[in-house]
Amino acid sequence: MEVMKESLSVVDNRTGRSYEVLIRDGAVKASDIRGIKLSERDFGLLCYDPGLVNTAICRSGITYIDGERGVLRYRGYPIEELAERCSYLEVAYLLIYGELPSRSQLEEWRWNITHHTIIHENIKKFIDGFHYDAHPMGILISTLAALSTFYPESRNIFDEEVRNKQIYRLLAKTPTIAAFAYRHLRGAPYIYPDNDLSYTANFLNMVFRPAPNMRYEPDPVLAKALDVLFILHADHEQNCSTTVMRAVGSAHSDPYSAAAAAAAALYGPLHGGANEQVIRMLQEIKSVDRIPQLIKEVKEGRRRLMGFGHRVYKSYDPRARIIKKLAYEVFEVTEKNPLIDVAMELEQIALSDEYFIQRRLYPNVDFYSGIIYQAMGFPIEMFPVLFAIARMAGWLAQWQEQILDPEQRIIRPRQIYTGPAERHLE
Ligand code: ACO
Repeated sequence: MEVMKESLSVVDNRTGRSYEVLIRDGAVKASDIRGIKLSERDFGLLCYDPGLVNTAICRSGITYIDGERGVLRYRGYPIEELAERCSYLEVAYLLIYGELPSRSQLEEWRWNITHHTIIHENIKKFIDGFHYDAHPMGILISTLAALSTFYPESRNIFDEEVRNKQIYRLLAKTPTIAAFAYRHLRGAPYIYPDNDLSYTANFLNMVFRPAPNMRYEPDPVLAKALDVLFILHADHEQNCSTTVMRAVGSAHSDPYSAAAAAAAALYGPLHGGANEQVIRMLQEIKSVDRIPQLIKEVKEGRRRLMGFGHRVYKSYDPRARIIKKLAYEVFEVTEKNPLIDVAMELEQIALSDEYFIQRRLYPNVDFYSGIIYQAMGFPIEMFPVLFAIARMAGWLAQWQEQILDPEQRIIRPRQIYTGPAERHLE
């Protein structure tokens, strides 16, 4: 039997020269393509890839997605199993360190994160400085960046102990900042972290407790549902915000600055801001009889169906399936969010429409998550913030993998210059 050759033979028709380019792990190295030249002085062939749709920027052992079959795994474990049997903190540990924690490792991990939840009083004052109607995502992005000034040692990214400390701090303080941002908008007194509560119960307490002197018991069903939502959002390989985290990390900036930049990317309506847009869209539709008009506008290219479509998933997003089920568990505790009926009907209609079938557009993670967050009592502006809390685990895992990967260099792509040729002032 003929042995398969792991290479690509190419003929450059401009010169008639032949080249052999190695294939490794189903990829050719873009730098190998550069050897294809018109002349010695030629820079060499570039790969043009706007949106980086077909460029692998790293080797990663963290998250596996098969977009064709709707598969998502963290470190090899199917998302369905993790969502069902693990806590968000266990999953965060898995993403960052590669294995699920043992009982003692989990205890230590929990202790470390719980004991880094408090923020410096000056951070509180910093948050106070925002306008009353500031978007909480804007507050989160700026405050994450501000943290770097409080922990200047965080620049020492190659010291494992220092790195771990910043990992605890970022996972612990992000929910506190998020909750303080929310309280600031409401003009409500800040609620300090409670070390006796779980990660998500503490967050719910910081957000919803009416005042420090008033009682509030986070509902365990809601705390659990939020925990599952955090697991589902914890990582998603090389998406826009993660790529930003890696890009800033590749310059060896501190992780707070990198996380602030990643959060800024997540804020965009085509990324983490989509769940906010889904609710606005469903609220605009209000009743199912207005769905056909919306579908018409989408098909005419006048708008997008928010929460639909994905760069990678060309079948049902497995996270959307889990979330849809979770919605009904949450409605047992909260009132049913009437938008769920509009969403279900919209999904049905879209999935049977030729436009969506042809383009393989299915609901993504954001289609149903907003409906649950809203039922839990979170205002729409908090949705991307909730996403950022969850995604912090993935950002940190990817940042650490990036800086420890000897193959990685500062991320610095090329361009095809289309501006004027050299010219001179008159
Ligand atoms: N509604 C209507 N048409 C759509 C949608 C949509 N939501 N998404 C894609 N399409 C169409 C495009 O118009 C295009 O059609 P064409 O071939 O006739 O031009 C085709 O499907 C391919 O779309 P692209 O924009 O090329 O796909 P891309 O991979 O670049 O975009 C994205 C992916 C940004 C997620 C897109 O599907 C979208 O805008 N969705 C709505 C926003 C959203 O829900 N974002 C959340 C993503 S999940 C996350 O970030 C956590």
